[in-house]
Amino acid sequence: MKISSEFSKYASHYGSHNVIQNQVLKRLLEKTKYEPKNILDLGCGSGALCRSIEWHYKHFTGVDFAPGMLELHPKSKKIECVYGNFNDITLFENLLTYRYDYIFSASALQWAEDLNTVFKYIKKFNVPISLAIFTSNTFKTLNDTASLKPLLRTIDEVNELQRKYFNAEFEVVNYKLEFESVRDMFRYIKQSGVSASRSVLSYKQIKQLMREYPLNYLEFEVVFITSR
Ligand SMILES: C[S@@+](CC[C@H](N)C(=O)[O-])C[C@H]1O[C@@H](n2cnc3c(N)ncnc32)[C@H](O)[C@@H]1O
Repeated sequence: MKISSEFSKYASHYGSHNVIQNQVLKRLLEKTKYEPKNILDLGCGSGALCRSIEWHYKHFTGVDFAPGMLELHPKSKKIECVYGNFNDITLFENLLTYRYDYIFSASALQWAEDLNTVFKYIKKFNVPISLAIFTSNTFKTLNDTASLKPLLRTIDEVNELQRKYFNAEFEVVNYKLEFESVRDMFRYIKQSGVSASRSVLSYKQIKQLMREYPLNYLEFEVVFITSR
């Protein structure tokens, strides 16, 4: 297991709540050793991966369960957007009737209800993969400060599962994103797709957390699973 870290500063005027997701995507593509022609992207969002592909490909299928995201996804004769939920095995049964030669998923599979089943189905395609998944030390200090249990799976849980199905290269990257103000930081948490909306904290508790949070940055932990 390789471990590395990256640091960046959030620029509020730039207004992007996808800073980390964009870094994750960049790294995922850098780690991808192939230039596949028939691509499947699970949890494609508004198409960041599709837009980043610079090589010539034949067909790109992006799957997401958020219609608002799919609307923003690029579309063309060779780009297909599929409305589907990766927690529903009928999605995979349908997709398995097509041929893909590569499976990507960036910043999405942390929301798999049953990652074992999702990996089992990904394995059935029998093609190389590049997956980036957020893990439990994301927002670690924030969770510790608020005495919240992490929502996401640990590195070891994901590694154990990937070894069962893929035995791929496994890298952990810790990201730190620094903010100018606590207010910017909490706005980012709310807007980024990473935290999932969990309204376990009352307004008063959030105010307290904002006062007590000891860092000027947020922590993110992401595992990269890429075929050798
Ligand atoms: C953080 S965004 C990442 C989007 C894109 N892959 C990127 O790197 O910019 C996570 C995406 O996963 C999608 N997603 C989450 N759970 C899903 C599910 N069960 N089935 C399909 N898509 C899902 C969300 O709708 C969202 O578009």
